[in-house]
Amino acid sequence: MAKKIIAVVGATGAQGGGLVRAIMNDPNGGFAARAITRKKDSDKAKALAKMGAEVVEADLDDKASLEKAFAGAYGAYCVTNFWEHFSAEKEQVQARNMADAARAAGLKHVIWSTLEDVRRYVPLSDNRMPTLQGKWKVPHFDGKGSSDHVWKDLGVPTTLLFTSFYWDNFVYFGMGPKAGPDGTLAIGMPMGDRKLSGISAADIGACAYGIFKAGNEYIGKTVGIAGDHVSGADMAAALSKALGKKVVYHAMEPAAYRALGFPGADDLGNMFQFYRDFNDDFVAARSVEKTRKLNPKLQSFQQWLDANAKQIPLG
Ligand SMILES: NC(=O)c1ccc[n+]([C@@H]2O[C@H](COP(=O)([O-])OP(=O)(O)OC[C@H]3O[C@@H](n4cnc5c(N)ncnc54)[C@H](OP(=O)(O)O)[C@@H]3O)[C@@H](O)[C@H]2O)c1
Repeated sequence: MAKKIIAVVGATGAQGGGLVRAIMNDPNGGFAARAITRKKDSDKAKALAKMGAEVVEADLDDKASLEKAFAGAYGAYCVTNFWEHFSAEKEQVQARNMADAARAAGLKHVIWSTLEDVRRYVPLSDNRMPTLQGKWKVPHFDGKGSSDHVWKDLGVPTTLLFTSFYWDNFVYFGMGPKAGPDGTLAIGMPMGDRKLSGISAADIGACAYGIFKAGNEYIGKTVGIAGDHVSGADMAAALSKALGKKVVYHAMEPAAYRALGFPGADDLGNMFQFYRDFNDDFVAARSVEKTRKLNPKLQSFQQWLDANAKQIPLG
């Protein structure tokens, strides 16, 4: 029987790359990966082609290119990259472009990688956290969450995949421990004693593969995924053990985090405050047990650290 093609947006990135690898590592699973990129000649795209994936060029800002890239596929993994442009509006347009293209191609199953629209929890009138860019609370969440409805509106069979914080941010996103004035390494997150729901970025794609493999089971459903829920103190203890150096946790105030001044600090400060203030909801929406059913190799924070601690840059 012909393999079902999954068109993977973000195939050269963390989420989509994990899905392409999950498909390619299961040659008898009945699926084939079509890796979508803007740059077929990039090293990452070439590496995917070398693995045997079909590589196709398309741009989320160009609907016609997406229609071509989705044509003939069974399904698609759809993700946007806020951090490339810092625009939630752009994410909304790109989500709509993908949904339109998915409909035109008659896809049977789309996974939309999303996050909560925080404004449903903290309306713009609620001043506990500042409104950003005039209309968002956590722009990189709100642009995605406010696009959840477009798939349903267009009648695209979709699973809404609520992802969580990548453990990999300790390596690639500047969130590794930093030395304080006395030299002690510290992680600072404004979450008080509440828990961070996190996952290894590569596990997200493996979970998505589990969703596609389950056939119709998750179509029309919302699935939240996490590999662990850990407090700042838990993370500091695990980091201390893994690095062989003392790491402490600073439960800084969200306002202090927002004031750190790096691009996106205000967005992330609001995000951590959302994790803190709505922790029970956020954690409950991401069952580790259910995530493990989708991806039996799911890593806890400790397991991820055991494999990756050496890569964490220490500031
Ligand atoms: N960091 C976290 O903790 C975390 C947690 C949950 C969710 N997220 C969300 O994850 C998203 C990013 O996903 P990621 O980490 O997998 O990305 P990533 O590793 O940074 O890679 C970005 C991917 O998006 C593709 N892309 C970007 N703009 C495109 C466009 N206009 N047309 C076609 N492809 C485009 C890139 O493809 P080419 O460059 O090859 O074209 C690349 O494959 C962000 O929106 C972020 O909010 C992050």
